[in-house]
Amino acid sequence: MRIVKSPGAMQRLAKRWQREGIRVGLVPTMGCLHAGHLSLVHRARRLTGKDGKVVVSIYVNPAQFGPREDFTSYPRDFMRDARLCRESGVDVVFAPTNAQMYPANSRGPFSTFVVEEDLSRRMEGASRPMHFRGVTTVVAKLFNLVRPTLAVFGSKDYQQASVIKRMVRDLNFPLRIVVAPTVREPDGLAMSSRNKYLRGPLRRQAVTLRHSIQRIRAAVRKSPTPIRAARLKSELRKFIERASAVRLDYVEFFDPERLTPASKVAPGTHMALAAFVGKTRLIDNASL
Ligand code: PAF
Repeated sequence: MRIVKSPGAMQRLAKRWQREGIRVGLVPTMGCLHAGHLSLVHRARRLTGKDGKVVVSIYVNPAQFGPREDFTSYPRDFMRDARLCRESGVDVVFAPTNAQMYPANSRGPFSTFVVEEDLSRRMEGASRPMHFRGVTTVVAKLFNLVRPTLAVFGSKDYQQASVIKRMVRDLNFPLRIVVAPTVREPDGLAMSSRNKYLRGPLRRQAVTLRHSIQRIRAAVRKSPTPIRAARLKSELRKFIERASAVRLDYVEFFDPERLTPASKVAPGTHMALAAFVGKTRLIDNASL
């Protein structure tokens, strides 16, 4: 396994692979890898084949964090990540620095961003205004540097995957986006690098997000007619706030393709929510 730090070296390698007709699967991550990330790596390997190359990018992207968010404290453990990648058969770990990804020098500041203007406005975009601008910018850069045949994202970040698919369509990036299922802890909590922040009662209460989805899904499936979203939202808020350390940020019911809010909820409607567990912000989603 190679560790490539410079964007120039990554792009030279990618161009060589392209000339040789090699299929390349990219798994973009911010590191602190867990079983969810490794499932994306295995999916990339299956899809690129034994003659293909799998690249994992490990980069905590400052542009997608708000000023009061956890960029500085975001968990980082490069040695462990590199070991997990090696054990999972990754060919290249691409781990650039901030100065390389966002160069600013005597020729001027970094001043070009990619903005998706429809899907990224709601939910995560409303709560974290510059978040998706940072995500689409860094992902577009990664696509230009790694030139993948396909890139694999997790469906825990459902809105992110939708925004990236839209960017790929709109800007004609020549690759396929694959969205892989959420991997969960035995109690149902969606795997996330931020779960590392949770200890004791906070960890126990974090599963409330999953239980909320299960409650709503059961109600929707039992009901002979669609249920008003406003009613479900208010019931869910009460349910969530029974867990003393959990504070709901938003819950939304929406069309799974266009992400437009649904006023009536029925099987097939998608649901996403974000909540603070203590100071840790977690997200989850599911098709109902
Ligand atoms: O999902 C993530 O870990 C990040 O948003 C991504 C896609 C690696 C971009 O920084």
